[in-house]
Amino acid sequence: MKTIIEPFKIKSVEPLRFTTESERTDLLRIAHNNPFYLRSDDVLIDLLTDSGTTAMSSKQWAAVMDGDEAYAGSRSYFAFEDIVRDLTGFSHIIPTHQGRAAEKILFSIIGGEGKYIPNNTHFDTTRANIEFSGAKAVDFLTDIGKSPETIADFKGDMDIPTLIDFIEEVGRENIPLIMITVTNNSGGGQPVSMANIRAVRRVCDTYNIPLFLDACRFAENAYFIKLREPEYAHRTARDIAREMFSYADGCTMSAKKDGMVNTGGFLAMNDEEWAMKARNVLIITEGFTTYGGLARRDLEAMALGLDEVLDENYLHYRIRSTEYFGEKLTAAGVPLMLPTGGHAIYIDAKRFAPHIPVHQFPGQSVVCAIYRHGGIRSCEIGSLMFGKTDAHGVHQAPPMELVRLAIPRRVYTQSHIDYCIEVICEVYEQRHHLRGMTLQYEAPFLRHFTARLEYI
Ligand code: F0G
Repeated sequence: MKTIIEPFKIKSVEPLRFTTESERTDLLRIAHNNPFYLRSDDVLIDLLTDSGTTAMSSKQWAAVMDGDEAYAGSRSYFAFEDIVRDLTGFSHIIPTHQGRAAEKILFSIIGGEGKYIPNNTHFDTTRANIEFSGAKAVDFLTDIGKSPETIADFKGDMDIPTLIDFIEEVGRENIPLIMITVTNNSGGGQPVSMANIRAVRRVCDTYNIPLFLDACRFAENAYFIKLREPEYAHRTARDIAREMFSYADGCTMSAKKDGMVNTGGFLAMNDEEWAMKARNVLIITEGFTTYGGLARRDLEAMALGLDEVLDENYLHYRIRSTEYFGEKLTAAGVPLMLPTGGHAIYIDAKRFAPHIPVHQFPGQSVVCAIYRHGGIRSCEIGSLMFGKTDAHGVHQAPPMELVRLAIPRRVYTQSHIDYCIEVICEVYEQRHHLRGMTLQYEAPFLRHFTARLEYI
């Protein structure tokens, strides 16, 4: 069959609220041209994030009812721990309310002044938590990964030679761990190959540095390995995921992505001493070790979600439907980061609006235009999110200016996506009207969330 259908039926629905273009023009102005300030009721199709926006299955909802809300030693914790241990093989499984809580705990233990944490590309909260601890977050993505036009299978791969040079330069004693983000969200949702994970593992062995995965989208990464790395073609996604984790000493996880839940996460590791420290911080900041800031019912939903996400009918539909979105836009000439990643479409704003210089936030201008035209909310991943102003007041741009349209799991159907394609194509046809923007307000960390912008 050519048509890949959604591998689920819909049991419960939520109405969408329609607005007019002139209403949205006003709403955007009130929102300081930052869709993070919009009310979701004013958004028709919300592609701001695939995080925590999942539709849970009827089995997950049933498990929620069955949660054991005990403060300590909850049965729901042990169900969760079993699933995570079976998947990852790690000894210590520490639940947290979401991914950044796991990051905060990890880096408050092992970060600090003078330390460096390499990654293929740090996600913004990971970078912020590292830098908040006083350490430095450094990225080692291959050049191919930074080139939106280049088609390649594993554009999330770490640049090994540069990583080795860096370790030699700063000294292994200043690198408490190396991370790999699967899939590489900030670099276009691109997968990391098993060969690359193994190569990073070898570097870690040589220098005796632990390896951690940022595992948010581990299942999508595993499925890409199955599709693109020939020796894995006949292995199950579950098996591939297990092998990915087997090369690591621990992971941080936001279960709001491939955990298929609306909130939840965990920190997992093999090191006993680090785990003890982490649990102590957990108790101060999140909650007791068997719930970590979550209702116990959330742990039940997470346990099932981590299992459901590895269903290959689901993964096939997930990866193929994202690719379909990308194919239609590419056919219309819309410049995208290619190939499409797992969880999102990334528009290359530098080519979409080449007349807007990077310090005038071309990505944010595209984000606003897509909302104004069709009520679709997307997110800038470029100069607004990662740009910095140096001591001389000069804008330091990141390598790419992207607009992310992230697809919530099991939420929208193909006709919703067809509508999005139409809207984006129409904005593209009128791209010459897009205007640059200037910042009116920025916070010291993670400025994109609360930034206020004005058209120039
Ligand atoms: N790491 C990656 C790769 C992420 O994509 C995210 C979240 C986190 C860590 C932090 O997890 O939100 O549970 O605290 N990404 C969301 C997104 C916010 O929209 O991509 P969290």
